[in-house]
Amino acid sequence: MDVSHLLLTSVLFLLPFIAQVSAQQPGCSASENNTSVEENNLPGYNVTTINLEAGFTASIDPSSLDASYFTIEGSQLQLVKSVDYETDPVLIADVVCRDTYGQTDTFQIIVNIINLNDNTPVFKQTSLTITLPEDTKVNATIIPREDLSASDADLDMIYYELNSTVQDTTNYFAIKGINNPEIYLQKQLDYDKLNSTTLFLHARDRPVSSNEITHTATATINIIIEQADTKPPWFLPCSFIDGDTSICISSPYSGRVNISEMSKEPLTLDPGPIYAKDPDYTINEKIVYSIVGGNVDNTFSVDANTGNLTMNKAATSPDSYLLQVMAAQVNNKQKYSIVSVEIKVINKSNYAPYFEPSTYTGIVSVGAAPKSLVFQAEDPSSPLMIKAEDGDFPDKFNPNIEYYIKNSTNFVATRDGLILTNVNLLSPETVIMEAVAKDTVSLQEASTIIVVEIVFTATDKITSDKLYTAQDMGILGGILAALLLITLIFLGLMIYKHYGTTVKFLINKKFSKDFPESYENQAYNQDEHPDLSAKEQKSSENGGITELQQPSFFLSSSKEEIDGLPKTSTASTVVFDVEEKEEEENEEEEVKEDTKHEKEVKSILKTDRNEGDHGYKAVWFKTDVDPDAGEKVEVIKDNASDYDDDSDQDLQENEEEEDDKDDHHRGSGAAEVMINMSRTASQDSIIV
Ligand SMILES: *[C@@H]1O[C@H](CO)[C@@H](O)[C@H](O)[C@H]1NC(C)=O
Ligand SMILES: *[C@@H]1O[C@H](CO)[C@@H](O)[C@H](O)[C@H]1NC(C)=O
Ligand SMILES: *[C@@H]1O[C@H](CO)[C@@H](O)[C@H](O)[C@H]1NC(C)=O
Ligand SMILES: *[C@@H]1O[C@H](CO)[C@@H](O)[C@H](O)[C@H]1NC(C)=O
Ligand SMILES: *[C@@H]1O[C@H](CO)[C@@H](O)[C@H](O)[C@H]1NC(C)=O
Ligand SMILES: *[C@@H]1O[C@H](CO)[C@@H](O)[C@H](O)[C@H]1NC(C)=O
Repeated sequence: MDVSHLLLTSVLFLLPFIAQVSAQQPGCSASENNTSVEENNLPGYNVTTINLEAGFTASIDPSSLDASYFTIEGSQLQLVKSVDYETDPVLIADVVCRDTYGQTDTFQIIVNIINLNDNTPVFKQTSLTITLPEDTKVNATIIPREDLSASDADLDMIYYELNSTVQDTTNYFAIKGINNPEIYLQKQLDYDKLNSTTLFLHARDRPVSSNEITHTATATINIIIEQADTKPPWFLPCSFIDGDTSICISSPYSGRVNISEMSKEPLTLDPGPIYAKDPDYTINEKIVYSIVGGNVDNTFSVDANTGNLTMNKAATSPDSYLLQVMAAQVNNKQKYSIVSVEIKVINKSNYAPYFEPSTYTGIVSVGAAPKSLVFQAEDPSSPLMIKAEDGDFPDKFNPNIEYYIKNSTNFVATRDGLILTNVNLLSPETVIMEAVAKDTVSLQEASTIIVVEIVFTATDKITSDKLYTAQDMGILGGILAALLLITLIFLGLMIYKHYGTTVKFLINKKFSKDFPESYENQAYNQDEHPDLSAKEQKSSENGGITELQQPSFFLSSSKEEIDGLPKTSTASTVVFDVEEKEEEENEEEEVKEDTKHEKEVKSILKTDRNEGDHGYKAVWFKTDVDPDAGEKVEVIKDNASDYDDDSDQDLQENEEEEDDKDDHHRGSGAAEVMINMSRTASQDSIIV
């Protein structure tokens, strides 16, 4: 039918002439000499009407090219079969017009076939598989356009879309454009996140938005990703950052060696032996280890292949070593990681700690508040204290020992071995638990069993043993509080008038110290007034009654007790100190002192003074002060004129000053201090 195609142009060119001819042959004519018909017509489709005058007949020239397509039925030119645009875009009907005399004439009717969308896009290959290295560059073409283009017999423009049923895949892969199916890499691959995927490339011959009939096709693309050597070694154990599995950070290793001793064995490290691996596990490059820093005097060696850390010589000083150990890939030194290894140098521990008694027994009352002391079962007025001994120390006291309860969360052990409740214990029972003493330097441990009876009567029993009940304390406190108030107002007015900011500070400090909450501010106070805090520290080491500390401005020192009151407050003070210790690690030593010599807890209220105990501060009622004794004695004065004498002196000077000229109003100063003490005592009795 190519001929007919060729003819088309010439025919179109001749069209006016032909029209003229037919006009000259009025016997036969067509309604339309140039008409259009949609492809895929039904057979018998009426193309146009042929008008015949009387005596004329029309027929299709059987020798004409497209004769087989046409017939004339009555006055209709018909298509006898379905026409496909893709094979016959134009048909020409040669109509022979014959008159009654047998004369013929011929004219043509041009039938343009209209193209319809009746074809589907076709991919060259509907399934293809490619292998892609993990380190393929972003923007690189993965499959070229030629391999992916679809064709369409209707010669339609093809629209492409890429998707995948594998989650997140389309972040990595994309096509260049809606009409350009070239697939390129959009995001750096990560084998750990995606090791293979399947893409679907959809082709359609109309845009997605079109309402017309649309034909589609799909090509399946399998992508296999090959791991590449992208990551440096990781020291193990390590943890991922924010769930991202491409970065793994290891914590330092640590170990310890004995001073002046060279270990023949590889050192045992925490959390495990030095070990790194290539996270590109399908490649698993070989790794070598080396020490790249901190190896003072070349004391240590690391085995290049195993990572085992050994000693070349003994450590001579107690300073720790901070080694930098590198793990690098053999094939590429640039792929490396560095980890730090801290080696502590410790005194050799020949003896492990041990508990003298294998079992301790304690008692505590039902309903005791959390952080209440457990008392000794055999002596319920004394707190239960466990103590491990260590033969490495002359007095068997190892200051590096810490205590903890191994298998009960209802109780805790303080670092000093006191046992405290950790929760509110609601029912009476016998609890058996294991307590451990651990030498934090040598890491040696000892354990013991503690049996604690939780009993209903404990509270009553313990409090009835005391000389004063909480109620008594409350009443006493009330009376003394009233006295304090009067005295304070009186004193305050006078002092404030003459001492300006120094006294203002002292008053502030004093009030803040009346409340346990104020301990969190201690560091701040120490920074601001180093002189004062140094004094407090010293005093509390002796007495442990830090909260009763007064600036020496108000106090003198003495040792013996003024009455029985402090005895009652002994245990209470210990409780208080223990609580406080939970917040302040650095006061542990004091508590230890307290509890060890708990009967010796000193009161600051005294009837007389003891000059033998330096650094101990207390209040006593003057009977025998010798102003020239050389002691640090401060005397509380009773009126404005006395303070006038000192008004130019700062605190430091006051501390050095000895001035007790006027003692007949001492009572007011003593009352002030006493009230502080009794408040504390009653508070603490309630806690116990
Ligand atoms: C990838 O191509 C885009 C567009 O041409 C460009 O903006 C981008 O920077 C290229 N990315 C890389 C990694 O080459
Ligand atoms: C590929 O990844 C899948 C899922 O992430 C995982 O189950 C499979 O083991 C991986 N295959 C290899 C060879 O790593
Ligand atoms: C240090 O000494 C202790 C006690 O003799 C011993 O158990 C330990 O193995 C020594 N440590 C090293 C690293 O040699
Ligand atoms: C020494 O290296 C070997 C082999 O890696 C390992 O099994 C062993 O645990 C290492 N020893 C120490 C003490 O790190
Ligand atoms: C180690 O022992 C020496 C003397 O034996 C001692 O002076 C030093 O304080 C001890 N070091 C530690 C950390 O205990
Ligand atoms: C704790 O351990 C000791 C011995 O190891 C055992 O007798 C006791 O029952 C345990 N206590 C609890 C509460 O598990």
